[in-house]
Amino acid sequence: MDLAALLRLADFEQAAELVLSAPTLAYVNGGAGGHRTVEHNRAAFEAVWLRPRVFADTCEAPDTEVTLFGRTFSSPVLLAPTSPQRILHEDAELAVARAAQETGALSIVSTDTHFPFPDIAAAAEDGCWFQLYAYDGRERIAETIEMAEAAGATALVVTADAHYPARRVSAQRAGFRTPPEVDFGTMRQLGILQGDVPASARIGRFPVTWDDLAWIRERTKLPVVVKGVLRAGDARRCSDLGVDGIIVSNHGGRQLDGVLPTLVALDEVVTEVGHERVVLVDGGVRSGTDIVKALALGARAVCVGRPYLWGLAVAGQAGVAAVINLLRLELGDALRQLGVAQVADLDSSFITTATAPRPHPADGPDHGQVDRTRHHDTIVRRAIR
Ligand SMILES: Cc1cc2nc3c(=O)[nH]c(=O)nc-3n(C[C@H](O)[C@H](O)[C@H](O)COP(=O)(O)O)c2cc1C
Repeated sequence: MDLAALLRLADFEQAAELVLSAPTLAYVNGGAGGHRTVEHNRAAFEAVWLRPRVFADTCEAPDTEVTLFGRTFSSPVLLAPTSPQRILHEDAELAVARAAQETGALSIVSTDTHFPFPDIAAAAEDGCWFQLYAYDGRERIAETIEMAEAAGATALVVTADAHYPARRVSAQRAGFRTPPEVDFGTMRQLGILQGDVPASARIGRFPVTWDDLAWIRERTKLPVVVKGVLRAGDARRCSDLGVDGIIVSNHGGRQLDGVLPTLVALDEVVTEVGHERVVLVDGGVRSGTDIVKALALGARAVCVGRPYLWGLAVAGQAGVAAVINLLRLELGDALRQLGVAQVADLDSSFITTATAPRPHPADGPDHGQVDRTRHHDTIVRRAIR
């Protein structure tokens, strides 16, 4: 495996397409309905342009580090919670936690993990965040939080947008079923799951209310982050309840098709609570310049989902680490080219949404497809041989 030959995240995506079955690919890359939100999460980044500053007094290697809730990370790229990772690699969340540890990044670990959370937390020696799905009332939520705290989670992420099953038409059409090797170790340890894992990879969830969120906030001393906020009013309510962070997210377009792109929602959330709370964003981040755009719009960091899953599918821990390192390299390059010495110096002056005429289709393939020539296909095939 020659991971160094994979030079863009699109290469990892292409490599994942070569190693995964069609149903698994549809589950990972697909979303809800007709994929309008999946596509527009990306398109929103494409609509933002960078404005470099010339003759800036920048150092050789810009500082990509970011500090969140007292811990410093090598770059403002967090690994979003995803499941079930066991469909992609036998080491699943352990590989992801080790890759995060190796690269100075952070893994946010889903409740729906193959391995029990305490084992994953032990692999992430410097800590990880636990993402909470409620599978029952408060007693069960309390047990889950206690388990996460005891295992050493350093923050609690409450996902707000995935209580109800989504209409994931592409995964359904492709015939995706949970393969028999997948388990839900954390849920099994908590006694939420007994017997077989359901074929849909989903167990009925319990809708969390504002009252529950207030109770969760009281219940734990950990920083609480709410994931899935897209409106200023909801961000305000979270902040007033003492929530420490918000992840502006539409679940990667996997829950409701037609929901607005996250980069568009970011502005109203940052305007409302950006001065008092940590605002993060995910959905469609695919390059260092995407990270720059999100940070210039006021996010403190971004999360990525599918990109590190491609790395996991292609090469386990090494593949995830390669994805994180590539994003960091691209971010450093972008900062230097823009005349920015550190991520904290990014602001809205470095971007514009002024429109440029779209290239005519006859001018060449779409952006992102640009380097997918036949020769390039051979390079990716050779890299993962
Ligand atoms: C295969 C897959 C599984 C996911 N599972 C979870 C999950 O268990 N919990 C959660 O809060 N979000 C989950 N998400 C959403 C991600 O945390 C994140 O919001 C999304 O992937 C970001 O978009 P991106 O994939 O375009 O980077 C999942 C996403 C994918 C692609």
